[in-house]
Amino acid sequence: MAEDILISDNVTKEERYKELLPQIAALIDYEDDLTANLANIAAALKYGLNFFWVGFYRVKDGGLILGPFQGPVACTRIAYNKGVCGTSFAQKKTVVVDDVDKFPGHIACSSLSKSEIVIPIMKDGEVLMVLDVDSEHLSSFDEIDERYLNELALMVQKKL
Ligand code: SME
Repeated sequence: MAEDILISDNVTKEERYKELLPQIAALIDYEDDLTANLANIAAALKYGLNFFWVGFYRVKDGGLILGPFQGPVACTRIAYNKGVCGTSFAQKKTVVVDDVDKFPGHIACSSLSKSEIVIPIMKDGEVLMVLDVDSEHLSSFDEIDERYLNELALMVQKKL
C-alpha cells in the first residue's frame, strides 16, 4: 500500500480529521504489531494535524510509561492519577485542558505546551494506554478533537 498520508490544503480541522482517520485505519489494518501501529499513528497525527506533541503512554506496573510519539523529548514515567495523563488514566475518561498552567499537578514536559487533550484507550474496562496531544496555544482542543480522537482510540482498541 502507499505509505503517504495525504491531506488537502486549506480545509477545516474537522475535514482534516475526516480525511486522516480512514487513512490511519488503512495504515494499521494490515499490521498487527502494536508498537509499529502506534508509531505510525503518532506520525500521521503529527503531520496530518500539525500537533506540537502527540504520543502514547502505556500502562506498566501501575503507572504510565512513554510509548511511540512525535515531537520534543518527553517525560518517561507518569504516576497513576498524576498530571493530565495520570488523571485520564485514573478517571478512565477524556480530559481536555485549555490552560495547562491552571491544571493542578500538570506535568510540564515542555514549557512551550499550553493546552492538552488526553484520551484513555481501554480494553475490557481497563485503561491500557492513553493518547496525549499537546498544543503550543491555549484552548486548542474542542469537541471536534474529542470526537475524532476518541474514534481513533476505538480503532487502536480493536487492534489490542
Ligand atoms: N503534560 C502531561 C505529561 C506528558 S507531556 O505533555 C508529553 C501531563 O500532565 O500528564
